[in-house]
Amino acid sequence: MFETRMNELYRLVKYHAGLYYDKDSPEISDSEYDALVRELNELERDYPEFARKDFLTHNVGGSPSELFAKVNHDVPMLSLDNVFNPQELVNFFERIKAEGSFTCEMKIDGLAVSLVYEDGIFIRGATRGNGKTGEDVTANLMLVDSVPKKLINAPRGRVEVRGEVLMTLDRFNAVNEKRSENGEKLFANPRNAAAGTLRQSEKNNHVISERGLDIFLYYLVDAEKFGVKSQSGALKWLSEHGLPVQSACKLCKNLDEVNDFISFWQNERYKLNYVTDGVVIKLDDLTKWPEIGSTSHAPKWAAAYKYPPEEAKTRLKDIIISVGRTGVLTPVAILEPVRLAGTQVSRAGLHNADEIARKDIRIGDIVRVRKAAEIIPEIIDSDINSRTGNEKVFIMPEKCPACNSEIIKIPDEAAYRCPNRASCPAQLKESLKYFASRDGMNIKGIGKKLAEKLTASGKIKRLSDIYTLTADDWKNLDKIAELSANNILSQLEISKSRPFENLVTALGIPDVGKNTAVLITEHFGNIDALISADEENLASIEGVGPVIAHSVYEFFRNDENLQMINDFKAMGFNMSCKIKTSGSELTGKIFVFTGTLENMTRDEAGGKVKSLGGKVSGSVSKKTDYVVAGDMAGSKLKKAESLGVKILTEQEFLSIINDR
Ligand code: IVH
Repeated sequence: MFETRMNELYRLVKYHAGLYYDKDSPEISDSEYDALVRELNELERDYPEFARKDFLTHNVGGSPSELFAKVNHDVPMLSLDNVFNPQELVNFFERIKAEGSFTCEMKIDGLAVSLVYEDGIFIRGATRGNGKTGEDVTANLMLVDSVPKKLINAPRGRVEVRGEVLMTLDRFNAVNEKRSENGEKLFANPRNAAAGTLRQSEKNNHVISERGLDIFLYYLVDAEKFGVKSQSGALKWLSEHGLPVQSACKLCKNLDEVNDFISFWQNERYKLNYVTDGVVIKLDDLTKWPEIGSTSHAPKWAAAYKYPPEEAKTRLKDIIISVGRTGVLTPVAILEPVRLAGTQVSRAGLHNADEIARKDIRIGDIVRVRKAAEIIPEIIDSDINSRTGNEKVFIMPEKCPACNSEIIKIPDEAAYRCPNRASCPAQLKESLKYFASRDGMNIKGIGKKLAEKLTASGKIKRLSDIYTLTADDWKNLDKIAELSANNILSQLEISKSRPFENLVTALGIPDVGKNTAVLITEHFGNIDALISADEENLASIEGVGPVIAHSVYEFFRNDENLQMINDFKAMGFNMSCKIKTSGSELTGKIFVFTGTLENMTRDEAGGKVKSLGGKVSGSVSKKTDYVVAGDMAGSKLKKAESLGVKILTEQEFLSIINDR
C-alpha cells in the first residue's frame, strides 16, 4: 500500500515539477506541491526500501533546456530545506548546534541565477538548472536593467554572486493585463512570469526589456576570498559593489529574534512589491558553513521558513455563472471584498456545481478564502456555525444566462453545458478570443475587449466572419484610427498562412488543445482527411483517446462547422501539413541489440528507440519484438531464431528509425 502511494507520489511530483521548472506553467499551488514532496519525504524516511535514491527531490529542480548553452556550476547551486512551523524551526536550530547570530532574509519567489564578473565586468549569467548544470542566459540577463554590467570598486579577478531574478507585482499586473487584452494565456504568478520571460530564445528576447525583470542578490561565492566572514557582511559587500540586495533582511541574535522577524513579515510582506513565500534563515558566521556541510539538495546551515497559505473569512454574496468557450458553465463566487495576501479579493473560482454541493457552500455563507499559488483565490469551505437560516442553496440555472438556451448536463461529467454552440454570444466571445490567441491564429490586436465588441456588434455569426469585415467596420467597432484598422486587416491576412495545426487549435474543438491538434494534423495531413476520419481512426493515434476522438468526429458532423471550414478554404487558409509517421509503431515495442553495429553504438541505437517510444532489453524472450543483429551476433541471435522473434539487419533497423 505504501509502495503504491509512493509510486503515485513519484509520478505526481515529477509531473508537477516538470510543469513548474521546465514549462513555467504550474497546475497546482506551491503549497500543494510542497505537501506532496513532504508526504513523499516522510514515506521515504519510513520505507527506505521503496525509495528512489536518484529521484529529483534528492537533487535540485529543473533540467537545462536545449535552448541555451550549458554551464557547469563550479560550486553547486543548491536549494533550501523548508520548515513549516515554529517547532520545525527549533529542530533546525538544534540540528546545526551552532551558536551565534542568524541572518533573516525574505525568500524571494523568483528564478535563481548566478552572475560572474571578471575584473568587475559582467561576463556570464546562468540559471540554476539541476544545480550542477544550468543554462547560459548571459545575453538575456544583459537586458535586465538591475543586473549591473559593471561593479562599483571593481574587485580584480573573478567574482561569482547568486540571487533571484523576479518580476515585481506592478510589472506582473501590467504584463498580465496586456496578455488578457491580446487573448494570451495569463501567467499564473510572478515567478512563472519571471522564469518564462528570462528563458527566451534570442529571437524573442525583446520581451525581457518590454516586460521588465529585476534581481536581488543574496550569496557571494567564496566570500572568504574577499575577506568576508559573515552572511551579513556578504550582503553589505554585494550592496557596496552595486549589486541590488533586498532591504527586508536582519541580523538576528537568537531564535526569539528570528521568530519576531518571521511574525513581523508574515503580514508586512504584502507591502513589498514582490512575492515572498517565507523567510530564509542562515547562520551568519560563514566560516562555519563548510564544517556543517550540505546534503546533495540543500545546505544544512540554512533553512526556509515557509508561511502557510494566507486565508481570510468573508461573506459569499452571490454565485454567478460564466459561460466558457465550449459552453461549459462555471460558477463564480462573488464575495464581500476582503483583503487577502496583499490584494482586495471579490471573486473566487468554485470549479463546478458538484463541488459546491459536496462542500455545502450556500449563498450568504461566511466562507474561508485562500490564495492558491499566492495569486488565484479559491473557497476552502463554509462556516456552518455562523449560518442564520437565510442562506440559499445554489441551484444550477436551467437556462443559459447568455442566450437562454436549455442547459444540459453531460452524463458522467460534473459539467453543465449550454448546447447552443452556433449562436450563444458568450461562447462566441470566448471562441473569438481563443481563435485569435497565440496557439490559435495568433492575431495580434484581437483580445478580450475587441472580442466583446465584435460579439456585441452582431456582425459576427461564426468565427470566419471576422475575415469579411472592412476597415470601416473595424474603425466603427473600436473607435480606432485608420492605421490600427489597417493593421488588424493585415494581421488577419497574415494569419491565413499560419500552420495547419494552429487552425485546428483555433477551431476550438472541445478537448483539443495545441498538443492534440499537432498529433491529429500530423497524422491526417490535410483538412479533408481529418473531416472524413472515423472515431476508430482518430483513437488509433498515440495520445488521442476515445473522448477526444468522439469530440473531433462530432465537430466535423456539424453543418455549421463544416460551413465555417468551407469559408476558410475559400479564403485560402493553410489547410495541410506534412504527414509524420509517428513513433507509434515503435511505441511499447521491445528491442534487443546484439553484435556490433556499424553506424552507431548500441547505446545510441537504444537511445533512438527510447526516444521513439520503444523499449530496450538486454535479453531475448518471447516478449521481444525485434532483435537487431549486428556483426558477430551470437547467442541472442540464435535464441531469437528459435523463438521466432523478428530479426532485423542494421540497415533494416536504420530504415525504420529514419522514417520517423
Ligand atoms: S540562499 C546555498 N536566500 O529559494 C543557499 N535563497 O527554495 C542558496 N531563494 O534555491 C539559497 N530567496 O533560489 C537564498 N534570500 C534567499 C532566497 C533564496 C529565494 C531561493 C533560491 C533557492 C530557493 C530554495
